[in-house]
Amino acid sequence: MTIPTSATWLEDAWQQGVSKTIRNAKRIKDTFPHISVQGVYDKNDPEWWTAGFWPGLLWLVYRAAPESEAAPSLRRINDSCERQLEGCLRDPDSVDHDLGFIWLLSGVVSYRQTGSEDGRRRGLLAANLLAARFHVRGQFIRAWNFSSSMMDTRGVAIMDSMMNLPLLYWASEQSGDPRFRWLAEAHADTVAREFVRADGSVCHVVEFDPHTGQKLREHGGQGHAPGSAWARGTAWALYGFALSFRYTGEARYLGTAERTADFFLAMLGEDIVPLWDFRAPAEHQVAWDSSAAAITASGLLELAKLSPRGHIYAAAGERIVRGLYEHYSSGELAAEEGLIMQGTVHYPEGRGINVPIIYGDYFYMEALAKLRGSEGLF
Ligand code: GLY
Repeated sequence: MTIPTSATWLEDAWQQGVSKTIRNAKRIKDTFPHISVQGVYDKNDPEWWTAGFWPGLLWLVYRAAPESEAAPSLRRINDSCERQLEGCLRDPDSVDHDLGFIWLLSGVVSYRQTGSEDGRRRGLLAANLLAARFHVRGQFIRAWNFSSSMMDTRGVAIMDSMMNLPLLYWASEQSGDPRFRWLAEAHADTVAREFVRADGSVCHVVEFDPHTGQKLREHGGQGHAPGSAWARGTAWALYGFALSFRYTGEARYLGTAERTADFFLAMLGEDIVPLWDFRAPAEHQVAWDSSAAAITASGLLELAKLSPRGHIYAAAGERIVRGLYEHYSSGELAAEEGLIMQGTVHYPEGRGINVPIIYGDYFYMEALAKLRGSEGLF
């Protein structure tokens, strides 16, 4: 399935995203934005799981025009971000399973784009820390370190983890050591079995007994409740399983990616942006998640290259990206730094509701880059 599209809307959307990102870089510099509040991106800690998306966004823009006037300053910003992120690797308490999100979009892309040995070294260090989170008895990667009265996080895995596995696949390719890949596959198999339901919906959080590894219970997490269908979790599943298939060639991952993608598309219908949870009760149908739409669009464009039904996923991915551009982008609006509007971070905790989010922007631009014929960064 070939994807590259040449269309006026696509070039307009890409150029608009590039211009705004270059403008934003002059203010945001080497800090770590998460959500845009009243038009201005906040500053987050480099430890937070979202810290890779700003460097990743800058790498997408850099890669498309490495000789441009802006390119040297984008490189400098990314070098500084990467050095700050490396600081976190020295404190095991500050790193979670999100090392893939962070390092695939910083050190690893820096190595791939420029041959940076520092990027490769840091990426491999991050992969080792991620591998060390593997729970042998439960065959999953532990998600978080924090203590909680709601659950024992020593035994917790979450859906988002599927996007972190490419760091392990990459580490096996780089080092020639297959252990990273075996761990990633073992985790993916656990997630496919314990998180993905027969109808293609997924749960966000599963708690296992930290001593025996037996599954204890589901938690709603960022979704409404156990049994509901958090939209972004579904997006992580369809993109993450597509990536596991791409890296391993194991057909079972393709089947899971297709099942979750089919569920997302059936629930989305003619819409572009889903509710934050496909099964949110009527009184909570007040928040939407454009980041789930952007992740899904980019994931579908990945699946389009892998699946015998690729033409369906390519058409759906393009429809969603175009819809984001035409109906959700902030466009030329100078008073808004975010690229796409109406994402939701964490509805149950009331955080970041109907706002631009940095990972929504990243995946929107990644999907546009794919439509223009480039690869994603995962
Ligand atoms: N927990 C990661 C996310 O919000 O998708």
